[in-house]
Amino acid sequence: MSEKGVLSSETVDGVRILTIDRPEKRNALNAAVRAALSEALALAETDPAVRVLVFTGAGDQAFVAGADVSEFAGRSPLEQREAMRAGLFDDVWNFPKPTIAMINGYCLGGGCELALACDLRIGADSSRLGQPEVRLGIIPGGGATQRLPRLVGYGKALQLVLTGEIVDAVSAYEIGLLDEIVPAVDLRERTLEIARSMAEKSPVTLALAKRALRAAYEMPLTAGLAHERDLFALAFATEDKEEGVRAFLEKRPPEWKGR
Ligand code: COA
Repeated sequence: MSEKGVLSSETVDGVRILTIDRPEKRNALNAAVRAALSEALALAETDPAVRVLVFTGAGDQAFVAGADVSEFAGRSPLEQREAMRAGLFDDVWNFPKPTIAMINGYCLGGGCELALACDLRIGADSSRLGQPEVRLGIIPGGGATQRLPRLVGYGKALQLVLTGEIVDAVSAYEIGLLDEIVPAVDLRERTLEIARSMAEKSPVTLALAKRALRAAYEMPLTAGLAHERDLFALAFATEDKEEGVRAFLEKRPPEWKGR
């Protein structure tokens, strides 16, 4: 599946890997890539064969080097608002199945914001991350001013956004921007290993877990804890709870139904 050749898709053991494919432009996000990502998200959401979604970039230079800057020149505020397709990264954030950013090089600006909208960020040791927008006289507009402080802390987020500094994989790992660093040659296999361990769980259970975790971002503690208890009770309404518990007691692997 690809639209205008800017996005390729493969599915391995329930893991769909979407590869942004403009390596000659460091996989910068232009209108065609955004449209293709939007379409691919909708397809992946309803396809039961897709249990986990992985985003990556083609080649060994970049995950995504940000929004396509060539589209910014001469653009009016209203044109920019329209071009951002309000909600592409929010659609990633709200995607009900687990999402992983497989970061294989430069992960900048909108690329870093795409990664921030994913559940996990696995980085090659060669990856470089940052929010360099201020260097261009703009600010992050795809969620970084909100998701970055929640992930790495307010101070580190301010430092990254106000300096536009690009940091290496180790620095990104130390502040929690990367969840793991692996040698570049092992990135795909390690990411698939993590993805498979999610893909083999019940999708309905993972969707509930993800909703509960999201409440930690969006709700005050007392409301979040109440929400967790409701979702925990809801898990008891699933056939997969019966199967999971029974399988444990019968000392056999579970056979998930996905409901
Ligand atoms: N938008 C549009 N084009 C981009 C791009 C972006 N975000 N990032 C890279 N490119 C293009 C370059 O213009 C260049 O195109 P050309 O060959 O037609 O001149 C090509 O990709 C290769 O980039 P280059 O800068 O030569 O590669 P590099 O390996 O020396 O540096 C980067 C890579 C990512 C450090 C550098 O390209 C860069 O700083 N990009 C912009 C990052 C940015 O500001 N992102 C936030 C945007 S809001």
